[in-house]
Amino acid sequence: MTKPDVDGTGAVGAGTDEAWDMVGMPMPRADRFPFPIPNGWFVVATSAELHRGQVRPLHYFDRDLVLYRTEDGHPRLVDAYCAHLGAHLAVGGKVEGDCIRCPFHGWAYDGATGQCIDIPYGGGERIPSRARVRPYPTVERNGAVWAWHHLDEDEPFYDLPSVPELEDPAWTPPHLREFTIATSCQEMAENNHDFAHFQFVHGTDSIPESEERIEGAYKSVKNPGLERETFGLGLGIVRVPGALTFFSSVTPIDSDNVHVRWFFTVPVESGEESLRFFADQFTAGVTQDIPIWENKIYQDRPVLTKSEAGIVAHRNWCKQFYS
Ligand code: FES
Ligand SMILES: [Fe+2]
Repeated sequence: MTKPDVDGTGAVGAGTDEAWDMVGMPMPRADRFPFPIPNGWFVVATSAELHRGQVRPLHYFDRDLVLYRTEDGHPRLVDAYCAHLGAHLAVGGKVEGDCIRCPFHGWAYDGATGQCIDIPYGGGERIPSRARVRPYPTVERNGAVWAWHHLDEDEPFYDLPSVPELEDPAWTPPHLREFTIATSCQEMAENNHDFAHFQFVHGTDSIPESEERIEGAYKSVKNPGLERETFGLGLGIVRVPGALTFFSSVTPIDSDNVHVRWFFTVPVESGEESLRFFADQFTAGVTQDIPIWENKIYQDRPVLTKSEAGIVAHRNWCKQFYS
């Protein structure tokens, strides 16, 4: 971008293009997306990032959170602030058995239920049921820790898939690429249904619209040479059959930002070079999308051509993930 010709003389002012490019980016400042944090399963850590007894502060779902691993090895995720006097449980909190014990006055919370089960002073009076931190159901699978987020704290309404290649010794251990992007889960997912942008953003032929199967929270699409499965707004599995599998996880940080993790695997016989090649290719692709995503808004009533009906179908499918 060059500086605009403000006075109409054809002259441009002092200052570098680089400085100009940085000012005010991302450009939309507020109310970009009219939807709340979606309900669904989301990656909150890789398995390797959480040892037994370890406590980590997190910020996802527009909440301050604490992730810890029990002495038995179960990951637990709860809201960060103690129901007593508000200490952050990850700042000095300790894992004891299944519990996390607050650093301030030692109240202990069971991470599975969120309930306080021990107040280590005061002579054993009954523990009020309000002495609780909000728990998030967790599952560990495919080398990642998943948490169920639901705005109304409802139970999971779809299951997480397994990715057999990630457990198969004939496929490489996963190669991780991760980034944060100023966008929302729904907007990122919409990109897959936006066929016209392939030509303009990615310089490739528009991918022909192919048959899509939709069942509740699940979707699948088969294109020649590329298959994609989608589970809610947090998880996609992409396959170049026999050559590459990657799973893509998109976790909302808040309503305007997401944390993306891509786990790539290829057959061991294809080698490290092939693994890096695919990871580089897909990362280069998303790098082209990022400036668009980070500076666009969500058009609630977009003007579309007939060929873009898939975008409307996608938006209708997304409605099931919002309270
Ligand atoms: S603030 Fe946590 S025990 Fe008092
Ligand atoms: Fe794209």
